[in-house]
This record gives sequence, C-alpha cells and structure tokens, in this order.
Amino acid sequence: MKKLLECISDEVMNAFEAAGYKREAGKVTVSNRPDLCEYQCNGAMALAKEAHCAPIQIANAVAEKLQGNKVISKAEAVMPGFINMFINEDFLANYVAQMAASDRFGMEPADKKMIVVDYGGPNIAKALHVGHLRPAIIGESIKRILRYAGHEVIGDVHMGDWGKPMGLVMTEIQERQPNLPYFDENYTGEYPSEPPFTVKDLEEIYPTASAKSKEDADYNARALEATLKLQSGVRGYRALWDHIINVSVNDMKRIYKILNVDFDLWNGESTVQYLIADMVKKMKDDGYAYESDGAIVVDVKEETDTKEVPPCIILKSDGASLYNTTDLATIEERVIKYNPDQIIYITDKRQDLYFLQVFRCAKKTKLCDENVTLSHIGFGTMNGKDGKPFKTRDGGVKRLEELIGDIQAEMYKKISENKDMDDAEARNTANIVGLSALLYGDLSNQAVKDYIFDIDRFISFEGNTGPYILYTIVRIKSILEKYKAQGGNMEAAKIGNPRNASEKDLMKALTGFAQTLESASEELAPHKICAYIYELANALNSFYHETKILSEEDEQAKSEYIALIDFTKEVLETCINLLGFEAPERM
Ligand code: ARG
Repeated sequence: MKKLLECISDEVMNAFEAAGYKREAGKVTVSNRPDLCEYQCNGAMALAKEAHCAPIQIANAVAEKLQGNKVISKAEAVMPGFINMFINEDFLANYVAQMAASDRFGMEPADKKMIVVDYGGPNIAKALHVGHLRPAIIGESIKRILRYAGHEVIGDVHMGDWGKPMGLVMTEIQERQPNLPYFDENYTGEYPSEPPFTVKDLEEIYPTASAKSKEDADYNARALEATLKLQSGVRGYRALWDHIINVSVNDMKRIYKILNVDFDLWNGESTVQYLIADMVKKMKDDGYAYESDGAIVVDVKEETDTKEVPPCIILKSDGASLYNTTDLATIEERVIKYNPDQIIYITDKRQDLYFLQVFRCAKKTKLCDENVTLSHIGFGTMNGKDGKPFKTRDGGVKRLEELIGDIQAEMYKKISENKDMDDAEARNTANIVGLSALLYGDLSNQAVKDYIFDIDRFISFEGNTGPYILYTIVRIKSILEKYKAQGGNMEAAKIGNPRNASEKDLMKALTGFAQTLESASEELAPHKICAYIYELANALNSFYHETKILSEEDEQAKSEYIALIDFTKEVLETCINLLGFEAPERM
C-alpha cells in the first residue's frame, strides 16, 4: 500500500505540474504547526528563484489546482509561500479501513535479505548480570523487526565458551574434587552423565578461581594448562567442559525466557575453532597477515582515517587465538553456512573500534564478499540514578535476574492494590507489566545513548512508559468486552468517517505505521516504534476521553468507534510484540 504521505504528495505534485511547474517541488510533510494545518508543502519557496516569480504566486497557483481534490480537503497558500493542507475525511477513513484489511497493515514487504543477528554474548560459567540486558533485548527486538519486515533472520547468541575462564573453572573444580575421573589421564571408561556441580556452584567457582589466579602464579599456570588441555581436545577436559556448558546454558535459557528472548543458534567461540588454523594460514599465504613482534597481524588502517586504527592481531606471540580470531572465523562460518547479506552485531559501543578492525580485516582478507554488510550497533551504558554505571548497593555488579525481580516486585505492589485480582493473577500480571517497564524503559532510548535506569519512572502508568502502553491496550480490551457483553457484533463493525477531531487524529496517528516500521527496520532502531506507539496511545486516550463510546446511542456510530479502537489495539499489540513484550488481560 502506498504510504499516506505519498498519496498526498502525489496529488500536490500533480498540482505543481498542472500549474506549469516541476513535479518534484510537491513533496509534502506532516505539518510542524498542527494549530494551522495537518500537512504542508514548502516546494514553492525552493522553486521561486528558477521560476522568476514570488513563492506566494506559485503557492497560490498550486492551491488553486487542489480545489475539489479527493485526497486533500483544503489547500491554502500562505505567506511567504507555504501550502497548508488538510486531509479529506472520506479518503482518510478509507485509507485506515484498507490498512486494517491488509497484511502487515499495508506495509510493503522489504527486498528479502538473509540476515544474521549476533546478540546476547553471555559468557559461560558466569551469572548473567545487568550488562547483559541491553544486548539481549535490543538484539531480540531488531531480530523481530527485521523478520516482520520480511527478511530471513537467524539469531545467534555467540557465547564466550572457550577461553581462560574455562580453564579457571576446571582448575577450581579439580582443587575441590581431585578424584573426579575427568582429571585421570588413564581413565578410559564412560564419564558420569550427571555434572559434579550445580549452577549455583559454578557461579561461585568462577570468581573464586579468578581471584586465586591473580594471587597465586602456580594456580594461574595450572589454569592456563587446563585451558590448553581443553583446547587441544583432551578427553576428560572435554567431558567436563560439556557439563559446564550444559549447566550454564540451561540456566541462561531460563533467564532469557523471562525476558522473552530466544536464539536460533546457541553457538559460541568454541564452535569455529576448527576453522582457525586454515584461516590464518590462508591469510598468510595470500600476503595479508604478517609477523610483527612475534604476533601475526593484518593491517587495517585506511588513508582517510582520522583516528588511529591499529592492526588486527590474528594470533598472539604464543600462538594462542584471540577474541577477534574467533569473530573472524565466525564470519567465515556464517558465510559458508548461511550466505548472509548482512551480519549485525549488538554490543556495548566501547567495542566500536574493535568491530571496525574485524570488519575491515574480514573484507580485506576476503573472508566475506565486498557486498556483505557488516554492521555494529554499539549501545550506551545503563546508568544508575547517580549517572554512573549501574551498581548494587555494595558496589558490585547486579545479577540480571535480581534486576528483573526488583522491577517485578515493585510492579506487584502497584498491581496488588487492585482488590479484584486474586494473588496469582496479580503476580502474573505484575510479571508481564514489569517486563514491559524494563524493556520499554530501555528500548525507548536511541540505542547508542546512555540512559538512567529509573524504576519509579519505568513502572509508572502515565507518561512515556511500557505500562502506559499496556494500560491503553487493556483499556481497549475492556471496552471491547463490554461491547460484546451488550450484544455488540464485532464482525459487523467497520471503520467509518471520523465524527470528531480526536477521532480524526487517532486515524492520522494510525497511518504512520508503515513508515515507522520501515525506518525501524532500515535503521535498526526499535526506539522509533516506541515513539510511534506513544503517540498512538496518546491519540487513543484523547479519543476515549472526548467520545462517548459504549453509551453512544447511535448504533452505527458506536460500531464504527469500536472498529477503530479494535484496529488500534491490533496495531499496538503488533508493535509491542516487536519490542518483545505483551499485554495482560487486565491490570
Ligand atoms: N562475550 C562477549 C563479551 O562478554 C560479547 C560477544 C559479542 N559478540 C561478538 N561476536 N563478539 O564481551
């Protein structure tokens, strides 16, 4: 379906042409003076010079041609040469009705691309903490938006599961349980199917081991040796590592599930180790990689760089692979397996330079084609109310599960004020609404910006918050239920012409859907959806306050109102789903 602004622009372009001017001048925008008009065209001003006449003359001639137009109800030329316009109500109502009847509310499918989204990035054997919130929920939303736009999308969690932390954990396990068969090189039997630790143990083991390794050189050496044994495939170490992965991944899945985040691939750094030796050899053979201070590097600086871009280090001097070695091999694997048009990485923006190096290196060494788009969405920091990175009261890093729990608990206090709800429903509702507060509080900011985690503001039912959006949806649900209870027939309800200004505003707000989704998917920007639904929810609530809906006596009018709010609900629900949350039945 053509976008509403395109429909209006087409008419104005025709009018420019009919008045003897060039079409291109007829581009229309939403008015920046809603007190004066709904849409405006500033084309006459730009045209005046080459047409050798005053802009107002052109604007007048064009406005003249727009009289009696089917799309534009009123067009007026005002000094110095603006064309101010209002939209025709028949046209608007028809447009909205057509949206409601179309797939994806009239949004045209994108040129289908194959896209891999790399997000989440948790590390095995460490508890998910607040720093893992943003990559998970921004990535999840981007994945959903791209899918909705019509792309084929694979989400990959890309865990850190291969480096020294693994060796540390194994060393500490050996300290505590030296007689386990995993450490016995002569053991040839089957290893136990049950892990010798719980997830709680693991979360305590890693920090303990990490602290010990910093103090005790011998311990540290043993951890490095254990890492090497794992990486070179020693049977017992592999078996123990499998347990670590399983226990850790199961727990991650549980927490990601609370956030409505899920991945198609649970790959990690370990997944692509088999590619590394050949990849490095080829980079050397092709003349891209060379030795520098014992390490193997690829130059990635470019002439136009305004800041220094250091070489990409492919292997350390001791021959060990690095974070970026794995990322490069992962690009190679994704190209082989999925032939993607684009790979998108969601990480903290402090990794900007890192990804610049990796992307340049991948292109230069031809791991991927020139026309594969490699994108990095670097997000800002979630800060506490003091403006500093979010910390627990004792200065530690808060666990993600605890953070989610806090917001749900606050929400429960609010929800349980509603005496109609039994405790089970109140808890369940608090979880749903609490999640919306958390997700919306984050996603409504442009990802690159830092933001302040402010529970009180996020859980408010008023203002630009998740709960406000849900409150609006629940309000609509409740009206629809009552309508049905009155014997109203939902099937027969059809959108009709607006009967008052707030109804027209609601319709206009609805028409922004396709444009919003297009920019959100092209710019990988969930915050655009938040801005749109906030405006839409405001329009719905104004309409609600200014219109008798259920008590309307004119049955035709009533059923048209019902159709319009029902459609608004569908649009809002679609949008919150793209942000990763849903609405309860009541709240
Ligand atoms: N595990 C990494 C970290 O904790 C994040 C991984 C991001 N993704 C990637 N392909 N490098 O910082």
